Amino acid sequence: MALPVLRLLPVYDAGRRSHTTCKYKCGEQCFRPEDNTSDNEYFGDIVASISRRTALRGAGVAVLGIGAASALAACDSGAGTDGSVGASSTGASGAPGTGNVPNAPGLVFDAVAPNTKDAVTIPDGYEQAVVIRWGDPVEPGAPKFNAHNQTPEAQAKQFGFNNDFAGLIPVDGRPGSYLLVCNQEYTTGTQMFYGYREGAPTENQVRVEMAAHGLTVVELKGETGSGRLTPVIGDTNRRVTASTPFELRGPAAGTVFTRTKADPAGNRVLGTIANCSGGITPWGTMLSGEENYTNYFSGAQNPPVEGLKEGWKRYGVGKDEDYHKWGLFEDRFDLAKEPNEVNRFGYIVELNPHDPHSIPVKHSALGRLKHEGSNIYVTPAGDVVAYTGDDSKFEYIYKFVSSRRIQRGPGAAAMTSNMRILDEGTLYVAKLSGAAPNEGEVPTGGYRGKGRWIPLLTVREDGSAQSHVDGMPAENVAVFTRVAADKAGATKMDRPEDIEPNPKTGKVYCALTNNSDRGADGKAGIDAANPRTKNKSGQIIEITDDHTGTEFSWDLLLVCGDPAAADTYYGGFDKSRVSRISCPDNVAFDSHGNLWISTDGTADVFDTNDGLFGVVLDGAERGLTKQFLTVPFGAETCGPIVTDERIMVCVQHPGETDDATAEKPASHWPDGGDSLPRPAVVAVWRTDGRIGT
Ligand code: FEO
Ligand code: CA
Ligand code: CA
Repeated sequence: MALPVLRLLPVYDAGRRSHTTCKYKCGEQCFRPEDNTSDNEYFGDIVASISRRTALRGAGVAVLGIGAASALAACDSGAGTDGSVGASSTGASGAPGTGNVPNAPGLVFDAVAPNTKDAVTIPDGYEQAVVIRWGDPVEPGAPKFNAHNQTPEAQAKQFGFNNDFAGLIPVDGRPGSYLLVCNQEYTTGTQMFYGYREGAPTENQVRVEMAAHGLTVVELKGETGSGRLTPVIGDTNRRVTASTPFELRGPAAGTVFTRTKADPAGNRVLGTIANCSGGITPWGTMLSGEENYTNYFSGAQNPPVEGLKEGWKRYGVGKDEDYHKWGLFEDRFDLAKEPNEVNRFGYIVELNPHDPHSIPVKHSALGRLKHEGSNIYVTPAGDVVAYTGDDSKFEYIYKFVSSRRIQRGPGAAAMTSNMRILDEGTLYVAKLSGAAPNEGEVPTGGYRGKGRWIPLLTVREDGSAQSHVDGMPAENVAVFTRVAADKAGATKMDRPEDIEPNPKTGKVYCALTNNSDRGADGKAGIDAANPRTKNKSGQIIEITDDHTGTEFSWDLLLVCGDPAAADTYYGGFDKSRVSRISCPDNVAFDSHGNLWISTDGTADVFDTNDGLFGVVLDGAERGLTKQFLTVPFGAETCGPIVTDERIMVCVQHPGETDDATAEKPASHWPDGGDSLPRPAVVAVWRTDGRIGT
């Protein structure tokens, strides 16, 4: 009998965040040294070595609507901001961290109070239901979920584990019908399987986990008079797993870094993993970011390919303990046997959810990072800009400006053309400037500054690529984009998570979730946009971008955390009248132009559950922050969708505490009784049947 694996655990210092989540989700990034050890502060010296052949092109100001988000909670949008206090059964009034939160257009509900319940808590006057949960049937022939008899074949047809991003696409010509697109970020064997042995999973368990990763497309049917959505086993339903073929496109394809024994051409990759956030494109596809993929690979040794060593180091390959152990049963996840497989993950992936037979794409022209996700802005002229963040401590913000324009209108020809938009254009990284504040003192007029986009890589119409970074060939920039961005002197940020343009204003919002190492010994100190040492609560940056150009200005909308603390900032709004928010992760917008933020990590800071918040962006109430819901104990909130009819969130890793197992779950949400906790998508709607204005 194999002996249990013994190892010294690192000192756990991440607040109350579950160590289990850190192990399986992000490779213990809270504990190990950062991947970014670059000294790229001397922008002025480096900029001279970067060629600047990418022309500044015309700037657009208006916005092409994306998904036409609108606000369920705006039903009483004419209501005054009278300072009325929510008095719901959720205990809004005067509860710690809730404040005396007034109404505002789009935010007319009673603020939900922080709590530690094993439930989704919503304001009075709203109803909720699970839309779909881990194990629910998706593809035709899928069996019902059976926690005691999981098989890879069943899981490959069922909803996957730990959904993060969610998008809702109305089906043309069929009112009340939608395609829900989700990704499944990671698996946690201890939560999924009875009898799971950490470090020594069975092959069946590993193959179930591989099938529980990836993407899901499922048709949903609405019902008149409510926001309830019910899955339909439709023709377009699809599961994409860790084994589904993808086309790798762009400068990384076919290179010495991406060819493998199974794929000597280096352009056909099996699967997508660690998919975090994402976006719906204006042409109706889904984008998703491959984030913490390195901790799925074992066997890191001296890399056999010239140039790989620096790249592996910069991405943390080999630093992470491989808790998933897929390499035990599939050689490509063992770096000693297939060193290049890890270089085939870390891209923005695109899926056409309308065609269940389409081959999804990995877009290397957008660089290889630990991508959180990507969202698109389209100028009035049709130029397309994709924003993306690299979610690790001290990593960077990027954008890709396509050289192709969007082809408007329906039809296969438009889709085919538009799915080539992300193949050609220029990838940039952000360099921010501004005077560093005195820590804890909000600068007069708020936190603000300027910035430049530094070009890294251009892909031309004929597919040839040009590096803008001295000493790095184009394929190296595409595969080891972090190294290129270091050389460009990019600004080290506090973990850039979701980044998305507001369809109403075109301003771009990025959640900087936290960075407990900011200002630590030997690490980058505070700067204008990252103004706190040991930043546990994060901030939201608002970028006013010359979208196709290279200049921008920025403000900090929120410096999150305890409103009573001197080092927090709520857009200049009265901090005694806001809901407390920490660790912003995903962002979305409503029809009023309000920002909605889901959080991941509130328990680290305040010992309460994560949630969803609405924030006013413009006018006298700018910075008014109001909590709409909380998710169950141990979960994070993600994937928010805010429309007139309903608000939806993904509930990821409910009950994932350190000592929880399938035999001893810390949550029984959503099924109750003695059930396993099951990650799920939830819809919330008004009980009075009214919809938005
Ligand atoms: Fe998967 Fe950046 O959170
Ligand atoms: Ca995230
Ligand atoms: Ca988003």
